[in-house]
Amino acid sequence: MPPLKVLIVGGGCAGPCLAFWLARSGHEVTVVERFPALRASGAQVDIRAQGIQVLKRMGLMDAVRRELVDEAGVSLVDDDNKSWATFMANKTGKGAQSATSEYEIMRGDLVNIFHAATKNSVRYIFGRSVEDFEQDESGVTVRLSDKTTARYDLLVGADGQGSRIRKAMLPSDAPDPVRHLGLYMAYWFLPRGGDDSNMRKMYHLPGSRMIMRRTHSPAESHVYFALKDDSPELRSLPKRTIDSQKHFWAAKFSGGRWETQRFIDSMHDTSNFYCQEIVQVRIETWSKDRVVLLGDAAHCPSPLTAMGTTGAITAAYVLAGELNRHSHDIPLALRNYEKTLRPFIDEIQKMNGFFWRIFYPRTKWGVFILHCFVGFLSFFKIPYLFARFSREERGGWVLPMYDEVDKSVPEAKA
Ligand SMILES: Cc1cc2nc3c(=O)[nH]c(=O)nc-3n(C[C@H](O)[C@H](O)[C@H](O)COP(=O)(O)OP(=O)(O)OC[C@H]3O[C@@H](n4cnc5c(N)ncnc54)[C@H](O)[C@@H]3O)c2cc1C
Ligand SMILES: *[C@@H]1O[C@H](CO)[C@@H](O)[C@H](O)[C@H]1NC(C)=O
Ligand SMILES: *[C@@H]1O[C@H](CO)[C@@H](O)[C@H](O)[C@H]1NC(C)=O
Repeated sequence: MPPLKVLIVGGGCAGPCLAFWLARSGHEVTVVERFPALRASGAQVDIRAQGIQVLKRMGLMDAVRRELVDEAGVSLVDDDNKSWATFMANKTGKGAQSATSEYEIMRGDLVNIFHAATKNSVRYIFGRSVEDFEQDESGVTVRLSDKTTARYDLLVGADGQGSRIRKAMLPSDAPDPVRHLGLYMAYWFLPRGGDDSNMRKMYHLPGSRMIMRRTHSPAESHVYFALKDDSPELRSLPKRTIDSQKHFWAAKFSGGRWETQRFIDSMHDTSNFYCQEIVQVRIETWSKDRVVLLGDAAHCPSPLTAMGTTGAITAAYVLAGELNRHSHDIPLALRNYEKTLRPFIDEIQKMNGFFWRIFYPRTKWGVFILHCFVGFLSFFKIPYLFARFSREERGGWVLPMYDEVDKSVPEAKA
C-alpha cells in the first residue's frame, strides 16, 4: 500500500501521538498548530493505566520518568490550616492508583517529549489553522489560514475541547456536543512559598469554591481556583480579557482564609494564568468519511476524571492501529477505531455523582460535613483498601495489541 497523506490539526498531546505512530509506519504526516510555537504550557496532568502502557510501547517511558512531578499525596485543610484527611500516593507500581497517580507530569513537559519524538519525521506548521475543507471519495482538500491548499487522504481534528474541525464536521442541527458541568477553574504559577511541599493541598470554602495548591519544582508551585456555578452567563468568562478574568476570581475568593490572600496576590504577577470552563465532549460519531476527531475534540472526559491525557494517548494508538490495518479502506478503519475505543471512553467519562455533589459545598455546614466524611475515609484507610481490591486497569478495558504499529518500534514489546 502507498503511504497515507495525513493532516493532523492540533499539536497538543493527541495530535503528536498519532503523528508518532503514523510516521513510524511510513506515512506522510503534517501537524498544523494554531499557536505560533509549540504550546508547551499547562499544569499537572496524570497518566494512568492504559496511557502508561501506550507510552511504554512508544519507548518514551524513560523520557517521561525524567520529568515526573514528585507528588507525595493530597491533604484537605481548613480555614486554620488544620488537616482533616491525607491520602498518600501509591508509587509501588502495583495496585490501583489513588488521587495522586504514579505518573504526574507537567503538560508542557509531556508536549515537549511528544514533539521531540516526532519533529524529525513529521512536518510541523505553526501559526496556522484550517480555514475550510471539502471531501470526496478519494480525499480531502484542505485550505489553511494562509490560503494554501493541499490534498490529503485523511484529516484529523485533534484541536482540543473547543474543536473547530468538529464544528465543521457535524451537521448544523446536531445536538450540542458540549456537556456543561457548571464548573470553572483558573490556574496560574507562583513562586514556591516557604510552606509549599510536595503534598497537594485542597481547601474548600462555602459558596461552592475550592482552592488547590500543587508544587512541581524547587522554585514554583501552581494554584487552582475552582467555582461551581450553573448560571449560563458565566460561560463567557474564559472569553473575557485576562485582566477581567483575574478580577473576577480575586473578587470571588476575597476574604477566604488559609493561604487565599497569598494566592490572590500572586495572580497579578503571573504570566501563566489560564481559565477554562470544565466540560465534557460527547458526540454520537467521531468521524465522517475521511475526517476524524481525536482526543478532547472527540471525547474530552473533563479534568475531573484525570483521564483526559490518558484518553488522548490511548485513542491515538488505537486510531493509528486501525488505520494501518485498513489503510486501503479509511472509512472502515475509522468505524473500527470508534467501535474499539468507545467502551473505554464511556468508562472514563463516567463521573461519580456522589463525590461531585459533596465536593463543592454551598454552605459552611456543607464544608464541615465534607471534612468529617474525608476524615472518616482517611482514618479507616478506606481508599487504600479500595485500591487494594480493585483492578489496575480502570474499567478493565484491555488495550488492543496492534502488530501493525508495534512492529515499527523495536522496544514496544517490552
Ligand atoms: C494550554 C493548555 C493547557 C492545558 N492545561 C491542562 C491542565 O492543566 N490539566 C489538564 O488536565 N488538562 C489540561 N489541558 C488539556 C489537556 O492537554 C487535554 O485534556 C489532553 O491532553 C488531551 O489532549 P488534546 O491533544 O486532545 O487537546 P489539547 O491538549 O487541548 O491540544 C489541542 C491543540 O490544538 C490546538 N488548536 C486548537 N484549535 C486549533 C485550530 N483551529 N487549528 C490548529 N490548532 C488548534 C491547540 O492550540 C492545542 O495545542 C490543557 C490544554 C491546553 C491547550
Ligand atoms: C500499594 O499497593 C500495593 C499493591 O496493592 C500494596 O501492597 C501496598 O501496601 C500499597 N502501599 C500503600 C502505601 O498503600
Ligand atoms: C500548615 O500546616 C503544615 C503542616 O500540616 C505546615 O507545614 C505549614 O507550615 C502550615 N502553614 C501555615 C501557614 O501555618
